[in-house]
Amino acid sequence: MILPKQGVSKTEITKNLEEFREGDLDWRSGKVFGYVFDPGKEAMEVGKEAYMKFLTENALDFTSFPSLFKFEKEIVEMAVNHLNGGPEGVGNFTNGGTESIILAVKSARDYARVHKPEIKEPEMILPITAHAAFHKAAKYLNVKIVPTMVDSNFRADVAAVKNAITNNTILIVGSAPSYAHGVIDPIAEMAAVALENNLLFHTDGCVGGFMLPFYKKLGEPVPDFDFSIPGVTSISMDLHKYGYTPKGASLVLYKNRDIRKHQIFACSNWTGYTIINNAVLSSRSGGPMAAAYAVLNFLGEDGYLEIARKKIEATRKLVAGVEKHKDLKLMAKPDFCMFSFTSETISVFHLIDEMNSIGWYIQPALSYAHSRHNIHLSINYSNVEWVDALLEDLYKSIEKVRGVKHGEMGEALRKQFEDTDPDSLSDDDIKGLLQMAEIGGSTLPKGMADINEMLNALPAKMRERLLIEYTNGIF
Ligand SMILES: Cc1ncc(COP(=O)(O)O)c(C=O)c1O
Repeated sequence: MILPKQGVSKTEITKNLEEFREGDLDWRSGKVFGYVFDPGKEAMEVGKEAYMKFLTENALDFTSFPSLFKFEKEIVEMAVNHLNGGPEGVGNFTNGGTESIILAVKSARDYARVHKPEIKEPEMILPITAHAAFHKAAKYLNVKIVPTMVDSNFRADVAAVKNAITNNTILIVGSAPSYAHGVIDPIAEMAAVALENNLLFHTDGCVGGFMLPFYKKLGEPVPDFDFSIPGVTSISMDLHKYGYTPKGASLVLYKNRDIRKHQIFACSNWTGYTIINNAVLSSRSGGPMAAAYAVLNFLGEDGYLEIARKKIEATRKLVAGVEKHKDLKLMAKPDFCMFSFTSETISVFHLIDEMNSIGWYIQPALSYAHSRHNIHLSINYSNVEWVDALLEDLYKSIEKVRGVKHGEMGEALRKQFEDTDPDSLSDDDIKGLLQMAEIGGSTLPKGMADINEMLNALPAKMRERLLIEYTNGIF
């Protein structure tokens, strides 16, 4: 593409936009179990309208746009109350869970620089089920990750966390829940370990933080995970997931200002305007804040309770449907509206492709440690009425893929690379692997089963190199 010399008409642009979207996941169908959080038509409209009203306002400078300052203050205050933060609780609005996590890790790192200056190589203790955003934060901020094992139900092992503490530890992380299996870590015990050792503790409530209090109100057995636990010092909580507000909305919350102070960035070492940033980004649209404010107020507690009630019921039905099928195996009983299941008799990757080819979206996850490769479902409000249809098609699809040959390429690759140090492979070796799986070039792949089988057979570091090479080539 080159920039057109003369502008294109609005009609043509609208037509092009619609055409571009043709290959996208049809989330409006209610058959997409992931990525999109649809609160229903009316709430969606309320969010969109507020978003568009504040699309152009810039959160770069809260003194110039008191409206945005007010949105952020009110939303944070609501969130602190929601998570039992008490009068000392503070926080900020960010544009996503990853950003909230990066900021929480930065605050912990810089808090340690002041309070434990003897630490030169900071470490964060991370159960292997914690979200990849912590790995990103660690890379960006030069914090070492000390991974810890999880139990057979994929909950963090408290003894392993305790054993992982060193003189360099600055932060312990737990998830409520972790994305992959939808289970909540033993946050109270983990945070107690942090407190005993004078360490900060972060609860990643990106997916669950907002909804879990409603689950609790409905009588679900939700373990404590928030600021009601004395050792919890920060929480990430997304609004753009199960808060059902439009994307670009998350919160990072702190027990007090002493810790949060280390998140804020100010710069006067240049020739331009004064910079004070609460978040990673500087210029950013007021749209997500306004939309979050609007949807939260529009739905209110009753609206969210109703959504929670329906999702609890739908999750139960789906879990039961998986448990009763002889070819499927639930990975762990979930604490939330997300879970995963696997199979030892049929190819889960082909099952996913088959389901996705008939209009569903269900998500693959590769094996890692004792978590076998699996199918992940994030259950949403818009999915609720599709639960029976999903199970019906899932059972039919199992029969369709039952005879499909699988595992041979994976096995061959596993053998070929079991003694190979991923760092010893050249870029050309990596490109050769991509060609072998017939991926690369500049188009998106159609079926994913073979690609997933290949990735699944390789060690994590090699998977990462392949993905980077592929992505570097395709854009
Ligand atoms: C538990 C958890 N933490 C963090 C994130 C990252 O959130 P985002 O995609 O908004 O950056 C996710 C995303 O799914 C998540 O499930």
